[in-house]
Amino acid sequence: MSSSSNVLLGVTGGVGAFKAVLLMRLLRKAGFDVRVVLTESARSFVGEATFHALSGAPVHTNTWALDQTTGGELHVDLSSWADAMVVYPATSNFVGGLAAGLADDLLLLTATCFDGPLLVCPAMHSRMAAQPLHQRALATLRDAGVHVLDSVEGELANGEIGAGRLPEPDAALEAVRRLLSPQDLAGRRVVISAGPTREHADPVRFLSNPSTGRMGYALARMASRRGAQVTLVSGPVALNPPAGVNLVSVVSAEQMRDAVEAAAADAHAVIMAAAVADWRPADEAPTKQTKHDGEQAMRLVRTPDILAGLAAAKGDRLLVGFAMETGDLEAKAKAKLDRKNLDLIVANDLHVPGAGFATTTNVVTLIDRAGTVERLARMTKEDVAAHVLDRIATALG
Ligand code: CTP
Repeated sequence: MSSSSNVLLGVTGGVGAFKAVLLMRLLRKAGFDVRVVLTESARSFVGEATFHALSGAPVHTNTWALDQTTGGELHVDLSSWADAMVVYPATSNFVGGLAAGLADDLLLLTATCFDGPLLVCPAMHSRMAAQPLHQRALATLRDAGVHVLDSVEGELANGEIGAGRLPEPDAALEAVRRLLSPQDLAGRRVVISAGPTREHADPVRFLSNPSTGRMGYALARMASRRGAQVTLVSGPVALNPPAGVNLVSVVSAEQMRDAVEAAAADAHAVIMAAAVADWRPADEAPTKQTKHDGEQAMRLVRTPDILAGLAAAKGDRLLVGFAMETGDLEAKAKAKLDRKNLDLIVANDLHVPGAGFATTTNVVTLIDRAGTVERLARMTKEDVAAHVLDRIATALG
């Protein structure tokens, strides 16, 4: 992603402060401009030099320093500069102070002066996290429109296991991206299928295809970021599920059909990005079949066509399909869209470099019901996902 958004990273004095260095790197890699404010106690955990060396930007700690570029008051200038602010980790002291309206250090001053999206990531020992006073302070922040990334269960600083652990930097990055994304799919229920299916002949042999699931997972991540409630029905892949999506793992086309149909019942849109196997062995042996000399024939039968099944009772639901073609892309994809009664088809030509299975990019053409053809340049699967979701957001109004 390339973005010119400015993110102000506030770091308070919790043991998870070292993870803020990693978050800053992730933010920079994602294209954000980052400036850092450390509280006095954060400096006991991580030094200014570390942040400065890695961000290349000034690191601020001193309330009384004037902004070196503008000469203005630092908290005013920092809060005007930032498009989003994230406090990672946020101590109980910071959460309580912000909820009470305190502004006695540079970070609290800047946070109270900031009127954009603010994300607070509390982390502390589980007994502190459970404290009613802390819980009340968090509720006050939420009421005031502050975003809270909840702490997670796991190993705490002293080796105990409990709630209160700081979420990993990639979860905080995703939450920041969400803060800065248009929420144009808020309240929309979207079902997305991804990955291959496996059609077993016996417990250790199956028919499948090289789909990695990257396209479907990118769609799920981007749709969730834009506020959609996402159910991701995934065949076997080696990807981590995106934050905030409801993952339903399946193996075969029949299992995928059942899961997609169940989730699609009250969905606003269904995107079938999965590479569903078209055939399955007619008989699945319950035990491993031993090999023998000579040839072996296998009788195959068709798997259910999931999209065609949904199209038969389409209603108001938007249906989006994918098509892989070799040659005569637009005519074949348009015919597929008509045959399957789809609203949009995302077609790619397997002969084009950077398109299709197991690549990080794709080269696709979007064709809608009205016959409008939009040829997109080669781009990342996340950018393809953004184009597809733009169409869905527009169609859903
Ligand atoms: N699809 C489906 N159920 C199947 C097979 C495919 O829902 N059993 C969906 C895919 O997820 C994809 C679209 O249908 O969205 C692809 O249509 P399909 O007719 O299978 O086209 P191709 O995969 O391009 O293959 P072919 O042209 O050989 O039919």
